[in-house]
Amino acid sequence: MNETGTKAGLTAQDMDEERLATYPTAAFLSRDYLQAEKQLLWPKVWQMVERESDLPDPGDWMTYDVADESIIVLRKDDGTLKAFHNVCPHRGRQLVSVPDMLPGPKNPNGVHDVRGNNRRNFICGFHGWTFDLDGNNTYILDPQDWHHKLTPEMTCLSEVQVDTWGGYIYITMDPDAVPLQEWMGRAGEILDHFDLAGMHYKWRQWAIYDCNWKTAIEAFLEPYHVAGTHTQLLAYGDYYALSKQYGLHSVSSYDTRDSKFQMSESAGTTRAGKGDDARVSTYELIRENYETVNYSASTETLVNAASRLVDELPETATPGEIIAHWLTSAKADDAARGVVWPEVPPEIKKEGGLAWGLFPNQNILHGETFALCYRVRPYGDDPDKCIFESYALERFPEGGAPQTEWVYADPIGEHWGAVLAQDFSNMQFVQKGMKSSGFRGPLPNPHQEQKVINLHRNLANFMDGMGAPTRLEVE
Ligand code: FES
Ligand SMILES: [Fe+2]
Repeated sequence: MNETGTKAGLTAQDMDEERLATYPTAAFLSRDYLQAEKQLLWPKVWQMVERESDLPDPGDWMTYDVADESIIVLRKDDGTLKAFHNVCPHRGRQLVSVPDMLPGPKNPNGVHDVRGNNRRNFICGFHGWTFDLDGNNTYILDPQDWHHKLTPEMTCLSEVQVDTWGGYIYITMDPDAVPLQEWMGRAGEILDHFDLAGMHYKWRQWAIYDCNWKTAIEAFLEPYHVAGTHTQLLAYGDYYALSKQYGLHSVSSYDTRDSKFQMSESAGTTRAGKGDDARVSTYELIRENYETVNYSASTETLVNAASRLVDELPETATPGEIIAHWLTSAKADDAARGVVWPEVPPEIKKEGGLAWGLFPNQNILHGETFALCYRVRPYGDDPDKCIFESYALERFPEGGAPQTEWVYADPIGEHWGAVLAQDFSNMQFVQKGMKSSGFRGPLPNPHQEQKVINLHRNLANFMDGMGAPTRLEVE
């Protein structure tokens, strides 16, 4: 993409220099913008479909829908993945019927996607045209009626590029897209050290939510909101954050105003709590986070190991010693139950920070043995609605991963935990507030909310400059 920033208004250098910036609200509110995303954004980007482990066997298949597009992804006999637009080339019927997602009398759990197993071919429900798993047409009723002029190219399914990264299946509808590895860039290289591919779903939930998809993903991109939204967490730790653009993607991390707590490996989810006795507060911080973020963003092993810190270390232990001991003992506990941590070099752990915003609509908060992730898509033609998904990954002993499926869960604390419910409590009111004629436009924090600015910078590059951020010149 265009790194000179001519469409985006802001350059990567502007971001690195933490220039003050603003951007219009069209990306969140405008129906024209939403329609333009259908042409300029979704068909052009690599986007995550599902975990690879959801399609383990030949003949496994599923649909993935975004905006007006529907894609079929399947696993072939040779173990490779294929993807096609979900449309019959005859007269355009969806090959696989994908009903409305919202829960209703027929679908009390909603329709997250349509999937199945043992597929040998796809037969169109309208006139019976048939396609093999390579997308070739294998049957047309009365082909002679076309004077034998139909070619295989005219009657096959339209192929979509498919690839994998981090245990995820990705697709792009753009035949000229850069390879996925190049798309992931340095973000992908860093996250590869955390071996996301070796993790499995712990839980996965989704909902239709009343805000734009960007309003939703941005609610999870920056820790600047923790002090204002998750006030109860301030008892255990400080949440001063930093964020940094990595081209298409961005990272955030905990920064600190207190050099005592500045430790190379503890910028992310494994850091000391605040207070006089960090042995106690580290445990309280990690336990509080784990229990109120729906038992994610950490693991039981890490929480248990932290609970022993006060018995295993002297009161004089420094925050650095506490973190080192905690991680060493948690790693040993996990090894004893068959969960082997990837070896992440300290400099990668530092650079990897707390969480990655992967352009355009993914967010991954990662550790060696867990990840808390989000993905958001537009819902219908309504800029005020989105399909919101969140899921926890964890590294389990061989064969120990739980069986999970996508569960429709209304966005309340009972289903998502107190912390996510607090995030939900902002989203629809941000969507409403931005419509106020008294709103002069966003004033994102250039240090702590750079991921949000970078999202708009990259969106503008795809969106022909629509919604481009601009420098906020202050004399
Ligand atoms: S639309 Fe598919 S066979 Fe006619
Ligand atoms: Fe939050």
